Amino acid sequence: MISAAVETHGERFNQQAAEVIPVPAITSTGKVFQVSSTPNPDRKRVLFVTSEMADLVKSGGLGDVSAALPRAMAHLHDVRILIPGYPQVVNSGHPIHTVGELGGHAALPPCKIGRMDMPDGLVIYVLLCPELYERDGTPYGANNGRDWPDNHIRFARLGMAACDIAAGQGMVHWKPDLVHAHDWPAGLAPAYMHWRGVKVPTLFTIHNLAYQGTVSLACCPELGIPEHALQQEGMEFYGKLSFLKAGLAYSSHITTVSATYAREITTPEFGCGLDGFLSSKAHHGQLSGIPNGIDESWEAATDPHLVCPFSLNDWEGKKTNAQHVRELFELDDSEGPLFAVVSRLVYQKGLDLTIGVADAIVEQGGQMVIIGRGEPEEEQAMRELALRHPGRIGVRIGFNETDARRMFAGSDFLLMPSRYEPCGLSQMYAQRFGSLPIARNTGGLADTIEDGVTGFLFDAPSVDAYLNAVNRAFYAFGKPELLSAMRCRAMTQPFNWSQAVEPYADLYVKLVQRAVARNGRY
Ligand code: ADP
Ligand code: GLC
Repeated sequence: MISAAVETHGERFNQQAAEVIPVPAITSTGKVFQVSSTPNPDRKRVLFVTSEMADLVKSGGLGDVSAALPRAMAHLHDVRILIPGYPQVVNSGHPIHTVGELGGHAALPPCKIGRMDMPDGLVIYVLLCPELYERDGTPYGANNGRDWPDNHIRFARLGMAACDIAAGQGMVHWKPDLVHAHDWPAGLAPAYMHWRGVKVPTLFTIHNLAYQGTVSLACCPELGIPEHALQQEGMEFYGKLSFLKAGLAYSSHITTVSATYAREITTPEFGCGLDGFLSSKAHHGQLSGIPNGIDESWEAATDPHLVCPFSLNDWEGKKTNAQHVRELFELDDSEGPLFAVVSRLVYQKGLDLTIGVADAIVEQGGQMVIIGRGEPEEEQAMRELALRHPGRIGVRIGFNETDARRMFAGSDFLLMPSRYEPCGLSQMYAQRFGSLPIARNTGGLADTIEDGVTGFLFDAPSVDAYLNAVNRAFYAFGKPELLSAMRCRAMTQPFNWSQAVEPYADLYVKLVQRAVARNGRY
């Protein structure tokens, strides 16, 4: 539902940096934020530019982070989201009021900006451009898994919209102090701002360095990219244009989503060809790691999605969930361990390694349930795996949040042999629901799993190393006291957003102060 209105004074969050906040903000779970009644001069207006947001549409963890982080920061900063108006957004049932109009640029069409107010007070600016965004499929492609051929135009339009709003154009009546852009789809936001001389500082967060959004140099005129950007220090990357590199090159600061991944991406093994560039950023103090958290809805005792909510030491309750999962996936009754895969089905996630250990899991009396979608070959490989082991391995191609949560609750172990993992949320969700992750010792997995205490880590990306970890899991499963102790440790890990909020909040303030010192008020 879209209607026209100008943005006026009915703000739930504050308009000005030092204004008193009129209405308490409420979290997605209904909790009221603690907001101060005194003006806070450090409260900044932040435009959070993202291609997914879990309330509306998600294809992975970026959607979860975009839904949780702005909310978790609401008591400190006025963080508003900018997202394209996909069908899942414009038809979400939340009213949208048109608050601005942006002109075209090069081949980027003109568009409108709509404002959507979520029931908990979060403000979402929706980029309304039906010719680019209103298509059936995911944010990035058709339902058959193919990317949209005009993704460079679609996401350049997103970047340019952020730039327009930061420049105070389009009558949006809200101008950010800082733009926080996420992953390659938002990579052109800092770049356009730099080229157009918009002085608002920018933060670029890497959620996944391997997705780079590269297109031919021949796209420059369509995208309005100046010639001087085509250099190593700019957005040129091995003879192509890289949206991701644009974000890295032109932002005021770069973060990624775990401390270990922040180090790893400065090495050739994980740097995707950008390790030299990123090492230099790290050397200049412009790259840091801030780990993701998980939100309060991840609570096994109260989660309404679960067939049988359960708490610490209530392993009978956990068993009831397992029984439901077995029925859902048409598996045989069993007293053996249940292994879950909840994942995008892509090379990153090491599913070929899971296929490599599957026979051994089944031979030892284990069962496996798999949910996800992704690359057609990976999906087919998963279907074939289930066909080879009827009653023991079940697969559902697709994704739905309820089934995913029930699988975390019902499984004994989560399989996550990722080749790399910037942070990973599933291993935290699983621990919170008493499912012990078996994962590679990399990125955020290394930072959030304690080997032998809350899960099992292995080093080499090989079937042998993985199998060794799986065998350790079987051993623990056979020792009820050890299993119970590990589950309790896993379920009580202090994963939440508060440890991320402070570093992001400080960074916002620091970047704005530095920009003001350099440029005066902008
Ligand atoms: P990634 O972002 O690399 O997929 P994370 O572990 O950070 O990995 O986040 C996974 C999140 O996405 C979880 O909420 C998980 O339930 C969800 N998820 C997993 N697979 C899919 C899928 N195919 N489509 C949508 N969401 C998915
Ligand atoms: C990416 C990464 C994942 C991370 C998520 C959210 O999709 O693959 O590791 O948790 O973004 O930051």
